[in-house]
This record gives sequence, C-alpha cells and structure tokens, in this order.
Amino acid sequence: MSNRKNRVCPVERAGSLDTRIRKWMQNPRKLLGNYLKEGMTVLDVGCGPGFFSVDMTGMVGKTGRVIAVDLQEGMLRKVRDKIQGTELEERLTLHLCEEDRIGVSEPVDFVLMFYVVHEVPDQENLFREIGSILKPEGQIFIVEPPFHVSKKGFEHMIRIATNTGLTVVKRPKIFLNRAVVLGRA
Ligand SMILES: C[S@@+](CC[C@H](N)C(=O)[O-])C[C@H]1O[C@@H](n2cnc3c(N)ncnc32)[C@H](O)[C@@H]1O
Repeated sequence: MSNRKNRVCPVERAGSLDTRIRKWMQNPRKLLGNYLKEGMTVLDVGCGPGFFSVDMTGMVGKTGRVIAVDLQEGMLRKVRDKIQGTELEERLTLHLCEEDRIGVSEPVDFVLMFYVVHEVPDQENLFREIGSILKPEGQIFIVEPPFHVSKKGFEHMIRIATNTGLTVVKRPKIFLNRAVVLGRA
C-alpha cells in the first residue's frame, strides 16, 4: 500500500467515526447550531460515514440541502444506507469526488471539513475550488485532530487558505481539537 493510501481514513475504520461517545462529545447540532439555518446549501467535504451530513440535513430543513462528498464510494454507501427510504433522501445528495477535485459547481452557504484537510495532498487547490463556490457570506468550518496535525501544521494550513483569498472569521474552541472558521476576504 502506498503512503498516499495510508493517509486516507479507510472505510473499515468508518465505525470509529460513528460512535455514541462521539455523538456525545461532538454533537453535530450543538457544534454547528450557530452556523446552519433553514434553507442553506451545505457541502460536507470528506463526509465519511455521514456523522455530520445526516444531522446537517435535518438542520437545514425542508428548503435546504446537503451535498456529501467523499473520495471513497464505500463511505458514500454508508451514508446511503442511513438515509435510504427516509425523507432525507431527497435533500442529501451523495457525490463521489476525485483526490484533487471536488467537482461541485453549485454555490454553497456552508462548508464542513471535519478531520479531512490533512488527508488532502493539494490543499491550495482544495481551498481555491471551495472559495470559487462559496457564497459571499458563506463560511468554511474546519476541524483537525491534534494527533495528526500539530499547532504549527494547523497554522500553516490556515496560511495556505488565506493565501487563496480566504480570511479567518473565528477560532471556535472544540475540546481536544483544532478549529477555524474561514470566510471570503
Ligand atoms: C477521518 S475521515 C472524516 C469523516 C467525517 N468528516 C467525520 O468527521 O466523520 C476523512 C474522510 O475524508 C475523505 N477524504 C480523504 N481525502 C479526500 C479528498 N481528497 N477529497 C474528498 N474526501 C477525501 C476520506 O475518504 C474519509 O472519508
């Protein structure tokens, strides 16, 4: 297996992202409640098994929608299994992307990248692509695990983002994690 493969969270580990303890510690409604509103279009980049995507679809209501994007079909399948036959199916779109291209052109109000950016090889390209579809008042919420991303590494990642025309809006405190909210400069 190549180093590149090792960097991407494998589908076999999806269960560890979907636990009851995580729901308690990183409850999507509590974490994102101040950012999401009815009617928003949300992009969940590197959605994994949909820990956030499913709740976010509920939070944006009947007039909003979520586009859940992942590199691995196996992750998207897990999200599909959760929503199949529910009313969320109509408002949660699954999108298989490429390593260096999300491929969504629709303008979005909110982008979540939770434990994802450190897995993306070309971060500058990622931020440019997201910046190009972010609405003027849109926000990008990024969370990274200190186990994989040092303080210095996190600041470097923010510099890459700001060099593409994004700006730091806020630095939310999330227990045992590194977080930043970016907007358009
Ligand atoms: C650690 S998981 C986090 C999943 C989810 N965001 C969560 O917090 O539960 C990282 C996810 O990002 C995806 N990923 C990695 N590189 C990616 C890329 N270049 N584009 C899109 N998704 C990617 C992986 O397939 C994996 O599902």
